[in-house]
Amino acid sequence: MSKSHHLYDVLIIGSGAAGLTLALNLAQSARVAVLSKGPVNEGSTWYAQGGIAAVLDDKDSVENHVADTLAAGAGLCHEDSVRFTVERSKAAIQWLIDQGVSFTRLHDSDEYHLTQEGGHSHRRIIHSADATGKAVHSTLIEQVQACDSLSLFENHIAVDLITEPDTHSGRVRCTGAYVYNRQRERVEVFQARAVILATGGASKVYLYSSNPDSASGDGIAMAWRAGCRVANMEFNQFHPTCLYHPTAGSFLVTEALRGEGAHLKLPSGERFMHRFDSREELAPRDIVARAIDHEMKRLGSDCLYLDISHKPAEFIAEHFPTVKARCEEFGIDITQQPIPVVPAAHYTCGGVVVNENGRTDLDQLYAIGETSFTGLHGANRMASNSLLECIVYAQSAAEHIHATLDAIPAPKPAPAWDSSRVTDSDEDVVISHNWDELRRFMWDYVGIVRTRKRLERATHRIKLLQKEIQEYYSNYKVGNDLIELRNLAMVAELIIRSAMQRRESRGLHYSLDYQSTSDIARDTILVPFNFAGQDIFVRR
Ligand code: FAD
Ligand code: SIN
Repeated sequence: MSKSHHLYDVLIIGSGAAGLTLALNLAQSARVAVLSKGPVNEGSTWYAQGGIAAVLDDKDSVENHVADTLAAGAGLCHEDSVRFTVERSKAAIQWLIDQGVSFTRLHDSDEYHLTQEGGHSHRRIIHSADATGKAVHSTLIEQVQACDSLSLFENHIAVDLITEPDTHSGRVRCTGAYVYNRQRERVEVFQARAVILATGGASKVYLYSSNPDSASGDGIAMAWRAGCRVANMEFNQFHPTCLYHPTAGSFLVTEALRGEGAHLKLPSGERFMHRFDSREELAPRDIVARAIDHEMKRLGSDCLYLDISHKPAEFIAEHFPTVKARCEEFGIDITQQPIPVVPAAHYTCGGVVVNENGRTDLDQLYAIGETSFTGLHGANRMASNSLLECIVYAQSAAEHIHATLDAIPAPKPAPAWDSSRVTDSDEDVVISHNWDELRRFMWDYVGIVRTRKRLERATHRIKLLQKEIQEYYSNYKVGNDLIELRNLAMVAELIIRSAMQRRESRGLHYSLDYQSTSDIARDTILVPFNFAGQDIFVRR
């Protein structure tokens, strides 16, 4: 095969916590290719701050963690998925420790320090100060780079999945992906007996987001186009506290500050969360983000404030060095002053429908991490349950792949990418314009508070944009920005369609037209016209 055609046992698209955990769990038994669309560390994992939720304290229990997750999820979590995840939480953390992740310990002790975040009834967040993602990701990257059976392809962006009908079962099987090599500026073919989407979330669909630029929902869009069901896309989580500063870009101010006693305040210095929830600053995220949004609109204020300055300066410096340093760059001393904050899009609770092994509707296609919908998060993810889900489902997918891969025949060679009918674009402004427009109307019309009219406006806008982007895609050579824009538009459509279908307010979906919560909780499951379905996971 030519150099533009690659064949592996397993192809993992994405090099965050989910992708790398899976790769390391398969390293002994398979030849694995791992793709990253930019540098290996450019995903949400690297930026995670607060920590990982797990049952590690004797006074805590699986039942408590399950109950808190179900409550935060506003009636929509799948209890079996929650139990599956929480029961494996201790082992998942032990695996990370065995890889070499250094978590913060209590002073003069071997015990780990556990912090608290919204919705948790116990201290159960294990962390590495306020840069947990960096500690986890850098350790996993080191391990992957030391492994001969794992090949890492940076700057390779998957464009679309390759599928073929399976003659034995009559079903459709995934055999690889067309992948744009950003250095060589060409589309290559990657094929494997098992393909895994570990591409992260889609929060970049919103104008203001805590996420890195890579979060363009590529995996969700690719799976949908290939014939997989997608669920609960209306539940995009807004983190209550991102730094508000004209030149700061995306920077999260971890919820662990509130866990350690920080207060939310109005510009007048008055606290307000008691008016919204008895748990005050530690209410689940949907409630806190909505309260901030409400107060900002009521007061016409550009931001509100998060204040931890009443705590000792040494405590703040020890627990929150990253937040302190970043704020200092903008002249804010968090030991003395409150931090200006606003909510921003943070986490995609919905995604590609999978079962407990991460299997999707297509044979040999798996999805893990933020790109998947496991049923764990319901209508609102509880803080720090996400990294846990990445590790648990990556391990579970690895077990399934390990047990089944030998029986899977090699895929038929796929045809090369056809670029004979496209030319170089001389109008790149179309991409940047549409990118801006899309993210702005999603923020304005499909944000924290929704109405039917706003969603109808968004539906109209997305139809026009989709048409223009599709036309552009058919006529011009692909490149990174076009690939991402096409996916963002696809995901935006899925979010709007799902939000239109939900005629109630629940968790992260709040509609002024349907303010009450229905007695019956239902997932919003979208089925593509080319549904290839195994229906391994139909509920509710
Ligand atoms: P990511 O880490 O986002 O990785 C996605 C990977 O896919 C990247 O390597 C990217 O290059 C690759 N990729 C994407 N598309 C393509 C494509 N088309 N082709 C090739 N590669 C592709 N969760 C917690 O549990 N605790 C926390 O404390 C926490 N803090 C957070 C703080 C911030 C600022 C953010 C943004 C998120 C935080 N989260 C936290 C959420 C959590 O970090 C993410 O949900 C989790 O890291 C997702 O991991 P992942 O492996 O699914 O995806
Ligand atoms: C945070 O540290 O506030 C983010 C935690 C999360 O998103 O789970």
